[in-house]
Amino acid sequence: MDPPHPADHGAAAPGTPADDANAAIWRSDEMVEHWVAGVDDRARGRAPQWRLMAELLPFATHDTFTFLDLGAGTGAAARVLLDFFPASRAVLADFSERMIDEGTRALAPYEGRFEFVTFDMAGGDWPPDLPAPFDAVVTSQSVHHVADERKRTLFAEILDRLAPGGWYLNFDPVATDDPLVEAAWRRVNDRRDPAAAAHRAHRTPEEAARWENHVRHLAPLDRQVGDLRAAGFEAVDVYWKQLDYVIYGGRRPAGR
Ligand SMILES: C[S@@+](CC[C@H](N)C(=O)[O-])C[C@H]1O[C@@H](n2cnc3c(N)ncnc32)[C@H](O)[C@@H]1O
Repeated sequence: MDPPHPADHGAAAPGTPADDANAAIWRSDEMVEHWVAGVDDRARGRAPQWRLMAELLPFATHDTFTFLDLGAGTGAAARVLLDFFPASRAVLADFSERMIDEGTRALAPYEGRFEFVTFDMAGGDWPPDLPAPFDAVVTSQSVHHVADERKRTLFAEILDRLAPGGWYLNFDPVATDDPLVEAAWRRVNDRRDPAAAAHRAHRTPEEAARWENHVRHLAPLDRQVGDLRAAGFEAVDVYWKQLDYVIYGGRRPAGR
């Protein structure tokens, strides 16, 4: 997807038009078909980051454990973890039945090692039968779809569902309040994709809607890392960063 640019950081409460638009987009045939068409290219590009997330988890290769992937989509990130830890099990949560259907198909070779659950990250109604606590929780490209207030409460709810010592890692795009930093990010992205500027200027209405949905709740990195600490995580760090894409995370204290 295109690189982010300055976003509207206004926080929308669950059930607001912004949340409704996000849900409508991710539940639409048009968006799901667009997403699925780019899955293989995206998986190639993001494989190093998903692998780093796996490497950051403190398990031995053949440990048996269960992780939760929130906003899992077609399970591309989860697949990398399932491959890296062959005795692991995944619970994948998403609010789009269409994405869950595609994910269930894509994960068929992992039958018996995964289950999908329906969950709206913008609300707080976690599925009652979730097999928590989890040994780890990951999010990939999904947290930026919820409002800032909700990011804060979501982080706290993730902590509550982690086993003591369990890690949470998030791979996501972020925003910046500094226009010079923003321009530097865009400069690099435009050098790497010479068609990007023309594409930005000539988006179809569907592309414009997807873009608006992508950037709506992008938030500065410092704020999100602060929210993670405030939620009670320890070992909080930005474990990887390139331009506007980051992996940050931390763990639930072992004694809690
Ligand atoms: C950009 S895709 C990322 C999918 C996958 N995690 C990956 O990295 O390939 C965003 C995913 O988050 C899901 N999503 C967006 N908002 C959500 C919400 N409020 N609750 C649950 N899932 C959400 C979408 O349905 C979609 O599957």
